Amino acid sequence: MEPRPAAYPDQLIAIGAADAPFEPVLDVAELSEGAMRRITRGELDILLAHTPAGIVATDDRCPHMSAPLSIGELDGCVVACPLHEGRFDLATGETDQMPTTGGLDADGTYHPTWSPGGRDAKVDPPGKKAEARRLTRVRRLRYYPVRIVDGRIEVAIPHG
Ligand code: FES
Repeated sequence: MEPRPAAYPDQLIAIGAADAPFEPVLDVAELSEGAMRRITRGELDILLAHTPAGIVATDDRCPHMSAPLSIGELDGCVVACPLHEGRFDLATGETDQMPTTGGLDADGTYHPTWSPGGRDAKVDPPGKKAEARRLTRVRRLRYYPVRIVDGRIEVAIPHG
């Protein structure tokens, strides 16, 4: 199928991206379906992912604690973060699986810590660290508009 930009929820556009100029970032041929790449412009690291829903551009920072999603695993439209088992849906911006550290979801609901494989969850000793994990909110992903022009992927990237 021809590579195409993925649709995303309008309200989840990244700050400043609605008015940003499009700039070419990569040849479409360099991003086969299932592939992810990091693109850096200034201090902005952007994740390009070629999902079954199309090509997505979002921050290459996990919405939990900022790890680079580009070195995680892409399974369909869901990217797994290399830290803490968090999984995020690139088609909707929603969290598919909360990180093992628990914390607040995008709507502010608290989720407890958990461990993979049914093992007992790691319990933080009470204190600032535990409180920080509890209060860390996993936001919805934010998107940068994508278009394809003459075989190049272009992304609207805010500068400054
Ligand atoms: S930094 Fe990604 S799940 Fe924690």
